[in-house]
Amino acid sequence: MASGNWPQGVRIDPVTGALAPETGHYTKRLSELRHIFHDAPALERAVAQQADPVVYDVAEYRQPDSDLYFGTTTIFPGTVGDEYYMTRGHFHERPDAAEIYSALHGTGVLLLESRTGENKIVEMTPGVTAFIPPEWAHRTMNVGRDNFVFLWACSPTAGHDYSQILKKGMRQLLLQRDGRPELVPNPNWS
Ligand code: F6R
Ligand code: ZN
Repeated sequence: MASGNWPQGVRIDPVTGALAPETGHYTKRLSELRHIFHDAPALERAVAQQADPVVYDVAEYRQPDSDLYFGTTTIFPGTVGDEYYMTRGHFHERPDAAEIYSALHGTGVLLLESRTGENKIVEMTPGVTAFIPPEWAHRTMNVGRDNFVFLWACSPTAGHDYSQILKKGMRQLLLQRDGRPELVPNPNWS
């Protein structure tokens, strides 16, 4: 049931990803992303030498009694060894929960992997909206020099399952080779 000043417009700053108003927010620093990046010594060096930098920021807008919420993710520019700053990546718990990602600023890549091992990548630049089907894991990387910001929308009951990717990784890594992103098989995938 709508109440208070809802429905309302939410202003999105496309460069910072800030929402006004927002109903939630979290930040992921590099030290919270151990086991996500394959080069563990490079990660520890960056945590120590760069004062544990923020890798990404998530702002959200949700209202009660609704089957949709949305937010922005801002991935800052950076690398850990030869890997671009990226999100943890997850499957949704609900087998029918899809999502959309829409690029607002910068240059990113959306890496998708189905439960049966198919892979897809979507180059994310402003103007591109990706449909993430149910049962596909999704992770985003910033492959540019500026913030990569995208808008996302899904069901608040989708649920987030991080365990499989934490345990096994994703089958493909997006590495920086000669200054450009290149998709390679993950040698540590198990
Ligand atoms: C929600 C969704 C995004 C991500 C966010 C951070 O279903 O896909 O809001 O949660 O981009 O990525 P993770 O959660 O993978 O660290
Ligand atoms: Zn998701």
